[in-house]
Amino acid sequence: MPDVEGSTEQKEFYLDIPAKNQAFFLKGSGALDWGVQNRLSRIFNPSSSKTVMLAIDHGYFQGPTTGLERVDVNIVPLVPYADALMLTRGILRSSIPSSSRNGIVLRASGGPSILKELSNENIAMDMEDAVRLNACAVAVQVFVGGEFETQSIHNLTRLVDMGNRAGVAVLGVTAVGKDLVRDAKYLRLAVRICAELGAHVVKTYYCPEGFETVTASCPVPVVMAGGKKLPELDALVMAFNAIDQGASGVDMGRNIFQADAPVAMIQAVGKVVHEGMKPQHAYDFYQSMKNEKKAEAPVAR
Ligand code: R5P
Repeated sequence: MPDVEGSTEQKEFYLDIPAKNQAFFLKGSGALDWGVQNRLSRIFNPSSSKTVMLAIDHGYFQGPTTGLERVDVNIVPLVPYADALMLTRGILRSSIPSSSRNGIVLRASGGPSILKELSNENIAMDMEDAVRLNACAVAVQVFVGGEFETQSIHNLTRLVDMGNRAGVAVLGVTAVGKDLVRDAKYLRLAVRICAELGAHVVKTYYCPEGFETVTASCPVPVVMAGGKKLPELDALVMAFNAIDQGASGVDMGRNIFQADAPVAMIQAVGKVVHEGMKPQHAYDFYQSMKNEKKAEAPVAR
């Protein structure tokens, strides 16, 4: 039994130190509940306020995408270098080690395949299962201007209600249909609608003209989507510009897992995102990592 009298005499109340009321580090997120803030802190690195999210959810509508045929072989080696993983619950349960420490962002909308109208999505998982999987956020596609625009926006708002009840963040993903132009005017519209309707984080494409107006007019963190595969230096330039123009990180897939050296590429992206490394320096880093790896590789007989 503890000595109650003795321990009372030893108490220290630090009466001269006022309790701190610390502001949360993410834009527009100060009024969120502790659980949502904690989960966002597992997606965004509190030291840099940024994230390198690795997007590998492409299979939910297009099957075994190039580079994702074998997640266990090609993707698991990248996992230690990502802050967060964006993926489906099927791939998480089947292929990602449960000892991984990344923030998990679960794809929570779906329905149509590439053979059908993509905007005709519904909510595709329960929040209860997201909590069971220890997810930090769920992701939902929002098709502003698409055929099923209203339906996709209602998917977002229902997930926001479910997420707020459970303390799980919601990532609104702005999807650009075939006929929509990815310019700042469109992206401002799509991103702002997601934030207004409660998304805690918004993912959108980069646009070379006016991207800073897209991030400035969004009251919550914006992460840049990677898009189709570019030469590695171009992808690093795009990531650098997005961060420089107000993005809180990147959510890249093909530009990482389809790179010549994916493990080197994700680390180079990390240099740009977390350390503000200039793209050419990050590319030099990428090349040296790639060459080192080649030097280590066994010689084919
Ligand atoms: C598509 O809508 C998915 O959300 C992907 O995660 C997204 O397109 C990012 O992947 P990528 O960088 O390959 O475009």
